[in-house]
Amino acid sequence: MTRFRTLDDLGDVRGKRALVRVDLNVPMQDGAVSDDTRLRSTLPTVTELADKGATVLLLAHFGRPKGERRPDMSLAQVTKAYSHVLGRDVRFIDDCCGDGARAAVATLAPGDIAILDNTRFHAGEEKNDPALADAMAQLGDLYVNDAFSAAHRAHASTEGLAHRLPAYAGRAMQAELEALERALGRPERPVAAVVGGAKVSTKLDVLRHLVAKVDHLIIGGGMANTFLAARGVDVGKSLAEHDLETTALEILDAAERADCTVHLPYDVVVAKAFAANPPSMRTCNVHEVAADEMILDVGPAAVEALADALKTCRTLVWNGPLGAFETPPFDAATVALARTAAALTQEGSLVSVAGGGDTVAALNQAGVADDFTFVSTAGGAFLEWMEGKTLPGVKALERE
Ligand code: 3PG
Repeated sequence: MTRFRTLDDLGDVRGKRALVRVDLNVPMQDGAVSDDTRLRSTLPTVTELADKGATVLLLAHFGRPKGERRPDMSLAQVTKAYSHVLGRDVRFIDDCCGDGARAAVATLAPGDIAILDNTRFHAGEEKNDPALADAMAQLGDLYVNDAFSAAHRAHASTEGLAHRLPAYAGRAMQAELEALERALGRPERPVAAVVGGAKVSTKLDVLRHLVAKVDHLIIGGGMANTFLAARGVDVGKSLAEHDLETTALEILDAAERADCTVHLPYDVVVAKAFAANPPSMRTCNVHEVAADEMILDVGPAAVEALADALKTCRTLVWNGPLGAFETPPFDAATVALARTAAALTQEGSLVSVAGGGDTVAALNQAGVADDFTFVSTAGGAFLEWMEGKTLPGVKALERE
């Protein structure tokens, strides 16, 4: 039995109103949705409930309007795209609670689907105000949370509501929780983690948590430079947070005590300027970086060694790129290691779970996102989970 009630635990929902918290916080360009991944991720839950005869009321935030009703942050602009992705009519209701919303909901039939406007138009949303949660609860008979990517927020629609109505994890939430459990909850060992990205400061808690959990910690991106500098390597002009060198050493010590092997690059790709294919680009040993050079990617010899390490592992969790992957050819290490991980996953020797904004973009660039066991589209929530934090929106769904 899972720790969470899922849609499998629902009885007959015909004629019932399901308040479904989804994440419709999608990027927009020129008034159109530019990436509909999050919209698509809600489809299994929404179609299942509608097909079983529930009236589906979608609750979501959009941007950060801070309690103000702002037309530029209305979910009205997402409704058409959502309807298109779903292939069904979707109604729009201009509030998520109150008399107007109640009257509009009363006109819906079983199987109908509606988007209720931005929960953050109410100041009570971010305060997890009981009065707002009560008002939203009045619209429905049951609550489904399918928004893992918003579950790190203890808001009225992500947390408070779960205590007021019978609460269930939706299909996307369920898939996410099952994948994360396999990756760090009860993983098959050995476990490797790749943590990359520009700044150590944003991922200190992630690193502290992971050294106690994983067997191999692969550090890449600008973060690796801070660790190299802490170990006395001259990183030249590289992006590095020198004020965090002591912290980096503490993390390395903790890793040693926990028997976690930390992998830092020993060859690197450097250049004098950060641009695509700069003429000054070269590959060198980390101890040979000149004062006017910056490290922009992990070198090919280190990538090969990392690939060998991955081949000994059964589980991988990945967050953040290894180099400045948006600017070629500094995507080479990320792409190469991602392809190794994908191939090992496809062979059946590795469970691979990746997440975080940049990570998904990097895996897409490597063309391997579909070959990982699971790729989370969550940003902040994925990071907080990697920090070992309890996510309030998830906790609220646990069985008593
Ligand atoms: C996201 O885009 O990561 C989620 O929708 C959460 O949004 P928030 O950071 O504004 O809470």
